[in-house]
Formats: sequence, structure tokens, C-alpha cells
Amino acid sequence: MNNFYITTAIDYVNGSPHLGHAYEKVLTDVIARIRRMMGDKVHFLTGVDEHGQKVQQTARKRGIPPQQFCDEISAEFRALLPKLNVANDDFIRTTEERHKRVVRDILQQLFDKGEIYKAEYQGYYSTRQEQFLQEKDRNPDGTWPELFGEVTEITESNYFFKLRSYQAWLVQFLTENENFVFPKFRQKQVLEFLKEPLNDLCISRPRERLEWGIPLPFDEDFVTYVWFDALTNYYSAVVDQPGVWPADWHVIGKDILVPPHAVYWTIMLKAAGLPLPKGIIAHGWWSFKGAKMSKSTGNVIEPGAFVAEYGTDALRYFFLREMSVGQDSDFTDLQFQARYNADLANNLGNLLNRTLNMTNRFAGGVVPAAGAAGEPEAELRALWEQTRAEVLKLWDGFQFHIALERTMAFVTATNAYVEKRAPWKLGKSIEASDRALLETSLATMAESLRLAAALLGPFIPGTVDKIHGALGRTPATDWTKECQWGGCLQGAKVAPSLVLFPRIQADDKAAVKS
Ligand code: ME8
Ligand code: MG
Repeated sequence: MNNFYITTAIDYVNGSPHLGHAYEKVLTDVIARIRRMMGDKVHFLTGVDEHGQKVQQTARKRGIPPQQFCDEISAEFRALLPKLNVANDDFIRTTEERHKRVVRDILQQLFDKGEIYKAEYQGYYSTRQEQFLQEKDRNPDGTWPELFGEVTEITESNYFFKLRSYQAWLVQFLTENENFVFPKFRQKQVLEFLKEPLNDLCISRPRERLEWGIPLPFDEDFVTYVWFDALTNYYSAVVDQPGVWPADWHVIGKDILVPPHAVYWTIMLKAAGLPLPKGIIAHGWWSFKGAKMSKSTGNVIEPGAFVAEYGTDALRYFFLREMSVGQDSDFTDLQFQARYNADLANNLGNLLNRTLNMTNRFAGGVVPAAGAAGEPEAELRALWEQTRAEVLKLWDGFQFHIALERTMAFVTATNAYVEKRAPWKLGKSIEASDRALLETSLATMAESLRLAAALLGPFIPGTVDKIHGALGRTPATDWTKECQWGGCLQGAKVAPSLVLFPRIQADDKAAVKS
């Protein structure tokens, strides 16, 4: 069995989870579900990033110990996962002992190898970004960009990791592995970044300035820089599980590709003598009604409340259908409602309704055997074969938005097939040939629905379970078999009726609070 290890970024706990966090977990879950379906032994890790200045500050403001603060917010992040139907295998918190131990081991190893040294640093420091700044970071007028917040000049001793000595290696690695970062244009950005000489990475913070971190094993007056700590989670979570490392994919947002994942993490692993992940997927960002989602302007969607209102699969479907992985997208209530009504309620939901309704009306609720196939059946079957082949390729290339479009086009074609055969007319006829055609058409629509469900499973798993239930069957364990056209449903007893996605009325302004 092939091991497949996939991770998400671990979220900062300095605020509650938002739509961007939810998207990343759902995207990763879709890939994990596809691989499980294909027969891989999947390990899916997600979690939270709990150390650092921001957490320390926010906890202080609230007047509670940082650990208590982390416990509260982490519980929120964790509770969101089942609401999104995200089936992760593990959830890591960077304050856990299993993690801290590995971070300290790796630091000690690198220190012993001479990859970490102590030096005096004098310069500018941004507390907000927890980052030392350079002259080149200034605005043309000499001021510091807004994103750095308050910038102070400091002199202090710190520990540095020899990033620069691996620069040439990294450039060569990326040149030889041109699909390391998906999408490709992001890999180009990494190489672009590497055109400038790298500075060694300051991996410590003096304890008097920052207490909330993992103490360096070789100097307890310092704690570990939050990125060095956080990145190690991917490895620390599986260090005791043979055969899992290296990761197949790290799924992250575009903002943390360069330099943290593509530069720090790759070099940390190389220096520690550990295998590199097979790749990094850098997804784009969601904005909300054209603006950056931000707590201060109030334009955030609370994902838990959203799925409570519209259903988990409505959100999962929208995420994957709307966003091309790697590109940015805008979330608007109009677009959400349009996709929901058109694709889920009127197309997929309608096909299930009709199938149940007509099977009950004309065949006693039992899916009949298909008779000889005529031209419409042959056409639909040909479209199925084509759709399946295309969709598999699209999945491989993370083109989920197109894959869903094709899958829904097959559902549309099935609805068109039903119109053409008009079983409601055939059901009124007393001709034997019409009866045979009626049975063929009922069998064909049920079969097509079953097949569409096979391609929708990773995206809207709860809905697909309901479809299987309504069609009175348990899906085949072998997914390849599940995708084969041909009479699987003969004799199945279907449900009386089932509404998958109640239509959202256009005047239902509650959709997305604005
Ligand atoms: O960066 N749209 O945590 P984080 C899409 N702790 N994705 C978004 C988004 C948006 N509007 N906003 C954030 C961190 N994200 C670190 C990661 S990994 C070892 C440490 C994504 O809570 C973001 O790109 O700020 C990132 O991948 C994830 O949410 C967590 O962001
Ligand atoms: Mg962030």
C-alpha cells in the first residue's frame, strides 16, 4: 500500500478561525479523500501554531496565561473540522510535548553540526512580524511599511542558522525539481527570491523579550523563533510512525511560501539530513466582497455559523468549484447562491428527486433492469466514459474547479436525457415496448446519478452518503469498480423522497450577513 502524507498549515491561535482557514482544510481533505479512494494509506495532519509574540500579547491583553488562551482558541479550531466534514488523522498543537521534544532534538543536532552559531545583532525589529528588518525593507521615503507595525532599533545576541550556505543547493534542487511547488508560477517566485543573497536566519529570541516559546536546548536564555518551531510540526507529528515521512504535499497559502516553506523548511530538512517533502501546494486567498477579510472591518464569515445555515457540503462545493487552486477568489453571497441553486439544488438535487419520484411512481420503488440501450443511452454512457477519464486527469493536476464543472455537466446531460425519454409519458402508455423503454430510462437515470456520486464523493461526502442511502445501496469498496457503468442498482429499493439542497430564495437576504 502506498503511504500518502498530506498536511495543512497550522493556524495561529491569535484569533478565531475564518473562511480562509476553512478553505485550506477542505482543500486538503478533498485531496486526502481522493487518495484514500484510490487505495493509498493516507495520513492527514492539521493543527495549530501556538507559540510566539502575538499569542503572548493577546493572552496578556485578556489577562489569562498563554496556555489557557491557547487551549480555548485551539478548541475552536479543532471543533471546526468535524463541522466541515474534514477527516484528518491527527491534530497537532505546538505546545504538545511530542512536538517540543523534536524541535529541541533538531536544534541540538544542527548546533552540534555547526549549522547554528551565536552572533551579535544590531538593527531594526518588527514586533508585529516577529522579524528583523533590513534597509531594503524600508519605504522609498525611509519610513517602515505599515505591515511591520512598531519598529524598534535593538542590539542583542542571538543564534543564527546558516541558511546562506545552502542557497546554491536550493537553487539547484528547485531547478532539477521543477514541479516542487504547485502552481508553477509560484516556483518561479521562489527562484526569483533566491536571486538575492540569503541572510542567515535568526532562530532565537531572548527570553526576556519573548517567553512564550520552546527554550533552545543549548541555551535556555533563549526561545525558538516561531517559524523554526512551527515548520517542524510536519515532522514531529510523525517521527514515531515509520514510513510516513517525507510528506507528499504541504498545502499552504501563498503568503507563507516564500521564504518560510520553500526556503527555511527545505534548508532545515537538508541540514538535518532528512528527506524533503515531495511538493508544496500554495493556494490563493479568499477575499470577501472584493476586500481583504479582516476582523477590524468586520467582513469575516464565521465558517461554523455558515455551515450551520447552508450545510457543510454547500460550502465545500463552493470552495472547490469557485476557486482555481493557486489563484485568488472573491466570496460573495450572490455567487454563492447562484452556484448553490444552479448546481446543487436545480441540477444534482433535481436529478435525485426525479429518480426517486419516478421509480416510486412507475416501478414500485425498485430500480428495474435496463433493457436494450438505444441511442440516448449509448450517448450518455459515452459521455460518462469521457467524463471519468477527464476528471481523473483534472484531479491529478489539482484542477478541481474544472473537474466539478465536468462532473456537473454529466449531471446536466442526465437531466436532459430524462427530458428526452420522458418516463412520465412512457408510464401512461400500455404498449409493451414503452414499458421496456420506461424501465431502461429509470435504470439509466439511477445509474448515472450513482456514477456522478462516485466523482462527487471527495467533495461533498455527506451528500453522497445521502444519495447512496436514498438509492438503497452501499457503495463498492473498490472505487474503480464503483466507476463502471452497468446495472449496479438493479433491484435496489429507493427512498420515497429526499431533498438534498433546499433552494435559496433570491430574497433570502440572510445568506451572507453584510
Ligand atoms: O500563517 N484565504 O497561520 P495563519 C485563504 N501559523 N487562505 C488564507 C486566508 C485567506 N483569506 N487567510 C489565511 C500561519 N489563510 C502560520 C502557519 S505553518 C508551519 C505555520 C491561510 O493562521 C494562510 O495562507 O495566519 C495559511 O496557509 C493558513 O491560512 C494559516 O494562516
Ligand atoms: Mg497569516
